[in-house]
Amino acid sequence: MRRYRVLIIGFGNVGQAFFRLLSMKKDAFNADVQVSEIIDRRRGHIINPGPNVVDEARSGRLLGRRIDIDEVPQLIEESDADIVCEFTDLNIRDRGEPAFTYLSTAIRSGKHVITTNKGPIAFHYDELMELSRRYNRLVRFKGTVMAGTPSFNVLELLPGASVNYFMGILNGTTNFILTRMYEGMSFNEALRIAQERGYAEADPSLDIDGWDAALKAIIISRVLGWRHSLEGMEVRGIRDIDIRAFGDKIVKLIAFANKDVAYVKPMALDRGDVLAHVNENLNALRIGTDTLGDIMVIGPGAGPMETAQAVLTDLAYIINRGY
Ligand SMILES: NC(=O)c1ccc[n+]([C@@H]2O[C@H](COP(=O)([O-])OP(=O)(O)OC[C@H]3O[C@@H](n4cnc5c(N)ncnc54)[C@H](OP(=O)(O)O)[C@@H]3O)[C@@H](O)[C@H]2O)c1
Repeated sequence: MRRYRVLIIGFGNVGQAFFRLLSMKKDAFNADVQVSEIIDRRRGHIINPGPNVVDEARSGRLLGRRIDIDEVPQLIEESDADIVCEFTDLNIRDRGEPAFTYLSTAIRSGKHVITTNKGPIAFHYDELMELSRRYNRLVRFKGTVMAGTPSFNVLELLPGASVNYFMGILNGTTNFILTRMYEGMSFNEALRIAQERGYAEADPSLDIDGWDAALKAIIISRVLGWRHSLEGMEVRGIRDIDIRAFGDKIVKLIAFANKDVAYVKPMALDRGDVLAHVNENLNALRIGTDTLGDIMVIGPGAGPMETAQAVLTDLAYIINRGY
């Protein structure tokens, strides 16, 4: 059986959930997939992690050799892994760095890459695709949009179909807040509950001001060959929203794009629209195609285990292509 060694970079919620899910679902692959290395800022450089590494990682203490963050690219280059799974934090201010450097170093040193980090894909799509072609290595990023719920990857099942537009609810935190507001809660109260449940970040502005949904819309657009970027997009969130102003309609934070325009903003939907009834922290994506008309997917859009499923999907894609 073909053996694949995996290097994990970033061993927080998603990294740990992926390690656990992989050990539970080993039989899903027609290959022997082993995590051979972990690199994490706090937990250090762990070689051949044992089965208890997730329990040990919870404390956040050092579990391997202490690393200087500047040496990570060199560690990636020297690693004998076949696949690098990158799960470090999103960094908008630095336009997806240092994750982009990690991914490009991995490809240049002959490794396939999988990431759940929106930054490097939204800001460096062209460079990563060019590296992928030049080095014949795959770049997969399903976990960046709607976690393990099929989203842009459904198009792999629809050869020949072209997409006219997409629109969706791509941020679970704001959808949860709006759902609670329709039940009578204030914005602040709903946000506090979203934070308590771990849906929203301690600094929730990425979610509530629309940036998270905007990056996801850019990623889907890039997959479709549309050249939208954050600079050219209207991005509005739900911070000061008054749901009563939308009358009988239901307001949702909608991400929309076609080849000419992309935006994220609160939109009033007719009660007959399925999207108006996608509640709680669920996500939904409607894709308008020339061959099928509209198709729609609804499902979880975040969560460590849900995102780990996306990584398994990407792993299976690489393995099934016989690399
Ligand atoms: N959680 C979700 O539901 C979800 C869903 C979809 C996508 N994502 C994306 O997946 C990625 C990981 O999310 P997460 O929830 O696992 O985050 P997390 O719990 O904060 O874990 C990130 C880990 O990466 C480490 N790290 C940060 N920068 C690093 C660097 N330069 N080199 C090495 N290690 C570094 C962090 O160390 P420190 O502890 O020192 O910070 C932390 O252990 C993010 O980009 C996130 O946006 C998450």
